Amino acid sequence: MKIMITGAEGMLGQDLVKVLSLQHEVVSSDIETLDTTHLEDTIKTISNVKPEVVIHCAAYTDVDECESNLDQAYKVNAQGTRNVAVACDKNGASLVYISTDYVFDGEKPYPYYEYDFTNPLSVYGKTKLAGELYVRDMLNQFYIVRTSWLYGLNGPNFVKSMLRLSKEMDMIPVVDDQIGSPTYTLDLARALSQLIEKPAYGIYHITNNEYCSWYTFAQDIFNLTGKDVQINPVKTEEFPRPAPRPKNSILRNYNWEMEGFEPLRSYIEALKDYLKSINLN
Ligand SMILES: NC(=O)c1ccc[n+]([C@@H]2O[C@H](COP(=O)([O-])OP(=O)(O)OC[C@H]3O[C@@H](n4cnc5c(N)ncnc54)[C@H](OP(=O)(O)O)[C@@H]3O)[C@@H](O)[C@H]2O)c1
Repeated sequence: MKIMITGAEGMLGQDLVKVLSLQHEVVSSDIETLDTTHLEDTIKTISNVKPEVVIHCAAYTDVDECESNLDQAYKVNAQGTRNVAVACDKNGASLVYISTDYVFDGEKPYPYYEYDFTNPLSVYGKTKLAGELYVRDMLNQFYIVRTSWLYGLNGPNFVKSMLRLSKEMDMIPVVDDQIGSPTYTLDLARALSQLIEKPAYGIYHITNNEYCSWYTFAQDIFNLTGKDVQINPVKTEEFPRPAPRPKNSILRNYNWEMEGFEPLRSYIEALKDYLKSINLN
């Protein structure tokens, strides 16, 4: 298959290029080669490539910065996605849109199913949801894939931050009242490579299995790396950030399992593999 990836220099994008290139012809693009906020350029570039599938990873992902940059967040996450959808429609390409747990408000006391009502709290969540709606309104052949708490080799993430902070601080405060499923970008990329083989279009939640709080995730990281680090559980209110975050971010991978795909491995197993592949010094 010929597959085009937007935001291919990002954390997920780089792993997608690596995984999909094993079996497919992959065309990478990032803001230097295709700024998805430009409608005409997006149509022209995608029409020149003529991919069968576009995996749209490009996004304004700094959740806190989005709060003070609504226009830019809307341009990238909502209109940029609309632009990619228009180009896919013109070229008969199917679209995989990577979305987020932040489309939910986190008030549900159980894991979120794909059909649950969305109610984003933050500018990031609202603009990503606006992107979802464009995709749903404009295309028939789409996969909307909501994922959560990504970490990978090629980008800043919570695991790297914890390892860095362990060298800088005696006691690290970590939020213990937000729960979710940390997801390894390599595992997500492998799952996406399976998904695009099947025209089972729709909304999917895809995350590593099992869940934790940020605090227990930090404990897992330090236990697995054998680091003796003091971490202090704190409440969200004690750790104010510009963007509100859902307390419950657990995404039940219901549609994925109903389509007969194997559940992803537990986040602990994925974390063990990830820690083996990064430099811990
Ligand atoms: N990270 C998470 O925890 C998480 C959780 C759930 C869902 N997601 C979603 O997963 C996807 C991938 O996330 P990620 O963590 O890999 O993000 P990332 O590392 O920030 O990658 C996003 C890429 O998009 C590029 N980009 C930004 N604006 C663009 C534009 N106008 N045109 C073209 N490219 C543009 C960025 O370039 P610059 O770096 O130069 O800005 C970056 O290379 C995103 O859609 C995100 O919303 C992420």
